[in-house]
Amino acid sequence: MMTQNQKLISWVNEWAELCQPEKIHWCDGSETENKQLLDKMTASGMAVKLNESKRPDSYYFQSDPNDVARVENRTFICSERKEDAGPTNNWSTPVEMKETMKKLYKGCMKGRTMYIIPFSMGPLGSRIAHIGIEITDSPYVVVNMRIMTRMGKAVLNILGNGEFVPCIHSVGYPLEPGQKDKKWPCAPIEQKFISHFPETKEIWSYGSGYGGNALLGKKCFALRIASVMARNEGWMAEHMLIMGVTNPEGIKKYFAAAFPSACGKTNLAMLVPTLPGWKVECVGDDIAWMKFGEDGRLYAINPEAGFFGVAPLTSMQTNPNAMLSLRQNCIFTNTGITPEGDIWWEGIGYDAPEGTITWTNEIFDPKGSKPAAHPNARFTAPASQCPVIDPAWEDPKGVPISAFIFGGRRPTTIPLVHEAFDWNHGVFLGSIAGSEVTAAALGLKAGVRRDPFAMLPFAGYNMADYFKHWIKTGEVAPDKKALPKIFYVNWFRKDENGKWLWPGFGDNIRVLKWIFERCENNAKAVRTQIGNLPAVDSIDISGINQGIDIHGLLSVDPEMWKEEIALIKEHYALFGEHLPVELKNQLIALEKRFQ
Ligand code: OXD
Ligand code: MN
Repeated sequence: MMTQNQKLISWVNEWAELCQPEKIHWCDGSETENKQLLDKMTASGMAVKLNESKRPDSYYFQSDPNDVARVENRTFICSERKEDAGPTNNWSTPVEMKETMKKLYKGCMKGRTMYIIPFSMGPLGSRIAHIGIEITDSPYVVVNMRIMTRMGKAVLNILGNGEFVPCIHSVGYPLEPGQKDKKWPCAPIEQKFISHFPETKEIWSYGSGYGGNALLGKKCFALRIASVMARNEGWMAEHMLIMGVTNPEGIKKYFAAAFPSACGKTNLAMLVPTLPGWKVECVGDDIAWMKFGEDGRLYAINPEAGFFGVAPLTSMQTNPNAMLSLRQNCIFTNTGITPEGDIWWEGIGYDAPEGTITWTNEIFDPKGSKPAAHPNARFTAPASQCPVIDPAWEDPKGVPISAFIFGGRRPTTIPLVHEAFDWNHGVFLGSIAGSEVTAAALGLKAGVRRDPFAMLPFAGYNMADYFKHWIKTGEVAPDKKALPKIFYVNWFRKDENGKWLWPGFGDNIRVLKWIFERCENNAKAVRTQIGNLPAVDSIDISGINQGIDIHGLLSVDPEMWKEEIALIKEHYALFGEHLPVELKNQLIALEKRFQ
């Protein structure tokens, strides 16, 4: 045992008694421990060691086909009152959920080792960081948590007798004596539960070994539970990338940006600028925790230590810095694997070598209908390996945020970029963020899927109360002039023939440049009904090698906005009495500006 923390020791004992593991292992986070776990998984057939000369110290996993993504319909916020979970979360009472889950946990680790993972979300000892302890029966989770968080003995030293967020996880597949394990053990869908207890700050996860269902530091802690802690304690836990942008004069600003899934957040966080002299550096690609500093500015840390990115479509063309981060010490899950022992996925930028094996362990047929990689195949990579990792990414103080950026995929209506009139208007923009989905994509109704602040699956309490927390943050800010400015971008607008109007990727620096210069009060803007838009000549399109319809990109069509307002009303109706009056007023004011 590596701790004297009595609360931690008795918590571990209590769960060991319930789950009945064969062994208990306290993770020290060392190189040796990591290697032992990976060797063991390789020997059992759960992992494949990739070709040492192509992808040193990297490993490949194939999950069960029924365990490939976060399970939102099995994710619960178990507050005492349903109202506190709000209309966008699944809910159960804590008592009922615990009763159901305890039955599942009983004996669930038979024949397995129970691993105790001490982890810090954020640089060790940062005043913005927090400590969690995850109990798991999955060695795959241990080796991933070692990349995604600061993990091991050093965390227990910092914890001392202090408080931690208890996180309990089981794949839900106990082994009877002599029973052979599966390559990817997990439980059937109806037994999967990803439960959060916001009042007691606990996480209970059962039945899945994949991603955010199992790596509990990420979505469960750093977003769902942390958003509750942030509201109670007056800080912010957001689903945001953090990037440093330096102009040719060497002045640097940090931006934090929230986009729904599949909008290229990781690409933006590591963008390679096409404008000479501009530089982008990455602090984080998924989550930001923020607190006001003594100077009144908001300071952000990336609570994570790695990237858990979607592999398909990542290439040297779309995101060279991500590709270069993957050269070694990585874990790949549900990609394809080549006969030479390297990984491959759709959109990697070259053809699959003959004999490539798919994520379902079949020979890949490039002409067939089955992809080599699952669309949600992932890489787990140490952030420190990113060639453009920001020098301050581990600064315990965090980095000062100058701008918040929201966005989504909107083929119509929303211009390339606009700036909020003020903080509350910016909160309004965050609250109506979303992407247009086609009916086929997700089995949903076609139309705009609202994903406020990109937090729809991640708010640990009533979404409308979360809006209120944003409003309140603006009110209590120690220096209102030092608050980040708020922007809304849309890289995805199309013309009437369905062609993208904007090249995106590295050219997005041109929009970031305008935002940067607005933060310095020296870019031209035009006041419109929806916010401040760039004057047509204030977006730098020099050197772009395609015709740019800047008027089309920046147009605000009153007819389309009237339709949009009707849709926003529908979206807001969901929140009933909890919707902050400030946001109701924003909507009324927007409607008036179009009359
Ligand atoms: C993620 C997500 O995996 O937001 O980061 O879904
Ligand atoms: Mn995310």
